[in-house]
Amino acid sequence: MQREAAQSYADELEMKAKAELPDYVYGYFAGTAGGGESVQDAAAHWDAVRFRPKAFTNTSEGLTRTSILGTQLRTPVLAAPMAHQNAATPLAEIATARAVRRAGSLLGVSTNTSVPFSQIAAEGAPWWFQVYVMKDRGLSSALVERAAAAEAKALVLTVDTTRLASSELVIDPQLWPETPGKRRLANLLEEDLSGLSEDATRGAEDLTLDIIGELRERSGIEVIVKGILRGDDARRAVDAGAAGVLVSTHGGRRLGKSVTSMQALPEVVQAVGNDCEVYVDSGIRTGDHVAAALAMGARAVFVGRPVMWGLATGGEDGAAAVLERFTEELRLTMAAIGANTIRDITSDMLWRPQATC
Ligand code: FNR
Repeated sequence: MQREAAQSYADELEMKAKAELPDYVYGYFAGTAGGGESVQDAAAHWDAVRFRPKAFTNTSEGLTRTSILGTQLRTPVLAAPMAHQNAATPLAEIATARAVRRAGSLLGVSTNTSVPFSQIAAEGAPWWFQVYVMKDRGLSSALVERAAAAEAKALVLTVDTTRLASSELVIDPQLWPETPGKRRLANLLEEDLSGLSEDATRGAEDLTLDIIGELRERSGIEVIVKGILRGDDARRAVDAGAAGVLVSTHGGRRLGKSVTSMQALPEVVQAVGNDCEVYVDSGIRTGDHVAAALAMGARAVFVGRPVMWGLATGGEDGAAAVLERFTEELRLTMAAIGANTIRDITSDMLWRPQATC
């Protein structure tokens, strides 16, 4: 019952956002690649996980605090990097950063943010900068150096979306008059782009593993690789210097028929062992889903669209409510499965830990 109620919470929030947002904005936020199969399956696969609750445990405290690459947090429920948050709420990432700080969480900041890093950092929430490596590597370098100077705690290198799969997901500047287009990224405004080619800010389509070390060296901060769905790729990323991997289907926005992140997580966890932290996103919609991901070996989860729906319907308060609700649901699930702390959520609490639905 609790799970059904929680599911309808995320769905209801989406319906509310859909009613309030212009169609083209809702369409961009909700958009998927292909026929959307990966998205349809994602939440269903998390839902299909079954727990083996432990008896005779002390669950009196229900502590959701954790640490992510050494940063202390009150929750393992983190805000995914998402572009164009200014179309959801005028304060964009400033509102999200405030919500994240209230929830004791961590914020992913997209390359496509409309807010200067200094303003996001001033809100005091821990944040990671998500990097799309551009065709013009000099521009990417400038961005990561600026992010590190503004005290981003890590870089999130997205490797799954050098080219978006669906035309629905590409911003048409004509439709988005007040939204900075791809060539007007807030943190490149002072850059003189006049001598550069038209496609300088487009994603590089020839990324190799060397980029992990290059970004690490250039920024002086750790690199997490986002968009990993295979154990062998995870292993290669770690061997090339990644401090973490984020198992993600990009919320089903890249490939309609990809495996879901729940299906990919066990092989990634197995491939990297204790050599790096593993995070997961895509389709996480309830506290049960968070608990399932942690039991499968994820250190934390990122939540995308529900945070966007919170922003769209209630700005800072709306986004904070989503993060706090997911955390409270996690606490309830922890009590039900016999876990007093995040560390107590272990794989033996899953029925068929390798289940692939
Ligand atoms: C995203 N995502 C994303 N990822 C990224 O690395 N850089 C980006 O700029 C964006 N932008 C973006 C915009 C919108 C509107 C959405 C919905 C998503 C993907 C995001 O970080 C995350 O992987 C997914 O959103 C997780 O899936 P759910 O929680 O939305 O199902």
